[in-house]
Amino acid sequence: MIIAIDGLAGSGKTSAGRLLANRIGFRFISSGLLYRFKALKPELDLVEEVKQGRLRIENGVMWSNSDVTADLMAEGVGEKASQIALSVEVREQVNAALRFVTEGGNYVVEGRDIGSVVFPKAAVKFFLTADPHVRAMRRENQVGSGVAIADRDRRDTSRPVAPARPAADATIVDNTNLSLEQTVDALVKHIPRERPDLQRFLAAVIGPAIKSFFRVTVTNKPPLEYGRWLLTPNHTSGWDAFCLAATLTRPTHFVAKSELKSSLGPLLGLLDVMTIVRGTPDITAIKKVARLLGSEKLVVIYPEGHRYRDGNMGPFKSGAFYFLRKRMAPVVPVAIRGLEKISFADIVPRRRVRIKFLDPIFPIDVVGLTEEEIAELVRARVLAAYESL
Ligand code: DC
Repeated sequence: MIIAIDGLAGSGKTSAGRLLANRIGFRFISSGLLYRFKALKPELDLVEEVKQGRLRIENGVMWSNSDVTADLMAEGVGEKASQIALSVEVREQVNAALRFVTEGGNYVVEGRDIGSVVFPKAAVKFFLTADPHVRAMRRENQVGSGVAIADRDRRDTSRPVAPARPAADATIVDNTNLSLEQTVDALVKHIPRERPDLQRFLAAVIGPAIKSFFRVTVTNKPPLEYGRWLLTPNHTSGWDAFCLAATLTRPTHFVAKSELKSSLGPLLGLLDVMTIVRGTPDITAIKKVARLLGSEKLVVIYPEGHRYRDGNMGPFKSGAFYFLRKRMAPVVPVAIRGLEKISFADIVPRRRVRIKFLDPIFPIDVVGLTEEEIAELVRARVLAAYESL
């Protein structure tokens, strides 16, 4: 999911965007920093640098393994950036780099033309404004010297290519009298939430009982409230899906073996469980998962393919990571422990179930890796987390 935040200099879009991204578990990109970087290193091709992994533009700018964000923030660099931003070639390069990095991920992207030009299909678009005096003061506090905000505004809004102005479908937020926190609160209110369904109704009714019965403890859980995510837990028991669903707060689409159809039939669909035929490439199922992710849903795939009930984690099949390699969604690996060798007869005495969420892996993190390599990497992380639980 892309959330676009545009606005003029000093409108607070960088601070608000960073905080918003942090609050909802997205990554943050300031496109202004790319213009600033290009102003400093005009000879470099941004897309090539990004593809080669030398340039990282998420949550700041890393160049050849050092953080250059502070250097880029100098007012002189901003001035130069505003000038080179008039060039169509420069804009196309910046836009291509932004599109490449963000493909298939969850990002808050901040700039002047993000909702209007770079991501016209962004799921949510904001345009921040504030009184020019307030904006000039904020900038001055930032850079420690007087800034010619009116000149900058004029250049940014009146340039013939991609002028800074709200997209037709952007929500305009005036934050002259809002604190940073209040601005972010206002933005969050405009991000559409998924409607609860039967699964969520059941999770609300029986989820607390499941959590207390299994004494579920959860660590490192990212917000997962908005955007597309693919969770890839280890699998020791049918109960782990119930424990996982009980800890989540939005409809969670599970991919299960097609054999479940004979026992559960139409109930599966109602509970957001879709089935996949194992052992063959099930094109229909793959397309369905792609569609779910494309419509910003939360999907769970068990990369082991079936339960390994004794707790000896099985090999991870590479298929689950097709969606990551094809840049359709970030993966959140999950380790679950405490349900090994469980059967209906021996759930008493109670178990202690521990669920640990691992840091998300975004498509840009695995550029150039094969599905098999990604599967190995994720398995190693899940195994280490499992053993630590
Ligand atoms: O947001 P900033 O001050 O870091 O941006 C520096 C300059 O880059 C800004 O004056 C205009 C240009 N810019 C742009 O033209 N389009 C964007 N999407 C972002 C920045």
